[in-house]
Amino acid sequence: METTPRILMVCLGNICRSPMAEGILRHKARLRNIAIETDSAGTSGWHVGEPADRRAIANLKEKGIDISDLRSRPFERSDFSEFDHIFVMDASNYKDVMELARDDDDRQKVDMMMNVLYPNQNIIVPDPYFNDSFERVYTMLDEAVDALLDKLSIPKDAV
Ligand code: 4NP
Repeated sequence: METTPRILMVCLGNICRSPMAEGILRHKARLRNIAIETDSAGTSGWHVGEPADRRAIANLKEKGIDISDLRSRPFERSDFSEFDHIFVMDASNYKDVMELARDDDDRQKVDMMMNVLYPNQNIIVPDPYFNDSFERVYTMLDEAVDALLDKLSIPKDAV
């Protein structure tokens, strides 16, 4: 039986990259009529309960994507049970998430976001918080999300 893929996006603060990734994914999945569950979380608890950074909200608003409803929350070990795929934005997120993994089942759920598009290259999505590179982050995530939805839209028995 096909089940709905559950996808978690993770970055450091859960106010810039991962809510943008979640918002773009949620938006494009709806447009393509692909059923998925999405969420995002941060490896730090620095911004718990806060909305996404106003620059992230504004960047996506320009593209017709609304992420004003999203709130920051910390990544937790139980997320390994709640999600099928966990995409992290950089090497530091990867290390932090992998340190919480309980077993190989947990570990195999985790990958760098850009590896969907460029397998095994471990290209990072750079942190835009201090240098304002929100448009660069948008472009990277937009491409990676398209690649992810392409993969998810192929029925498993056709691969
Ligand atoms: P994010 O960006 O990990 O993409 O949400 C950051 C947000 C906040 C901070 C760092 C990165 N901070 O230092 O508060």
